[in-house]
Amino acid sequence: MSESSVLLYFDDELTLAQALGREADLPLACIERHVFPDGEIKLRLPVPLPCKVVLLRSLHQPNTKLVEVLLAARTARELGAQHLTLVTPYLAYMRQDIAFQPGEAVSQKIVGRFLAELFDAVITVDPHLHRISTLREAIPCPQALTLTAAPLLADFVHSQCKGALLIGPDEESEQWISAAARQHGFDHGVCSKTRHGDKHVEVELPDVPVHGRHVVLLDDIASSGHTLAQATRLLLQAGAKTVDVAITHALFYGDAVQVVHNAGVRHIWSTDTVAHESSCVSIAPLLALALSELDTAD
Ligand code: R5P
Repeated sequence: MSESSVLLYFDDELTLAQALGREADLPLACIERHVFPDGEIKLRLPVPLPCKVVLLRSLHQPNTKLVEVLLAARTARELGAQHLTLVTPYLAYMRQDIAFQPGEAVSQKIVGRFLAELFDAVITVDPHLHRISTLREAIPCPQALTLTAAPLLADFVHSQCKGALLIGPDEESEQWISAAARQHGFDHGVCSKTRHGDKHVEVELPDVPVHGRHVVLLDDIASSGHTLAQATRLLLQAGAKTVDVAITHALFYGDAVQVVHNAGVRHIWSTDTVAHESSCVSIAPLLALALSELDTAD
């Protein structure tokens, strides 16, 4: 990237923006934001804008942020941006990928097309793509790149706990578990999970000996924390010595951190896709590499 590019960010993501700006050698500019008493948002972008613009916005608490992204992207185009990239370390609305009941909105497709209409390129980390294999199937824009934090989390787990047993709390975590396990030769296994409600999940442990082991649960998202909590209770009942948690997106809504610790989790480790007290692995170098490989030619 060069003088003809800028990284736009919102003030609540300053830390990640600074790290990404350094790694990608991009100048930063903050989008000013005012929230009116009725909840409407007013944005002000820096002027003038160069022709290549990168917008950083993680989409946890997604409903407001999707409106911010809409206002920012349309304004950037008005101001002359010719190539617009969204770096959204956490991409929301990917889990509702089919209509489970007649009449349900398939949010993944709707939000994906919404973003594809706004951006030339979208970069994200460990999106929850369950029934499709590429991000472009959800976000049909010219470049839609998926990165994975699993190798970075694997390095961190290895530095903290060399002989860890890696366990994925559900079938969908298999992709991250096998990537991480390959990297350091961890023993590993994957649970099966049935979800009965937002905070009610049933988990079955894999057929892997856990007695006396230091277990690390590795997953993409912790939201209510109940998936990790339920897996932890079973692992401790089965004789695991300790259970730690390593996740990409630390959403942890409400009392989720407490829920996870109450179940017996010792440490929570996460990346900084979402700023959280558990963030200890930075995805900025990964994002910067992806930005450097984008084709931004007009
Ligand atoms: C879904 O399958 C994801 O991989 C996570 O396991 C899930 O989103 C975690 O949600 P919660 O923390 O609410 O159980």
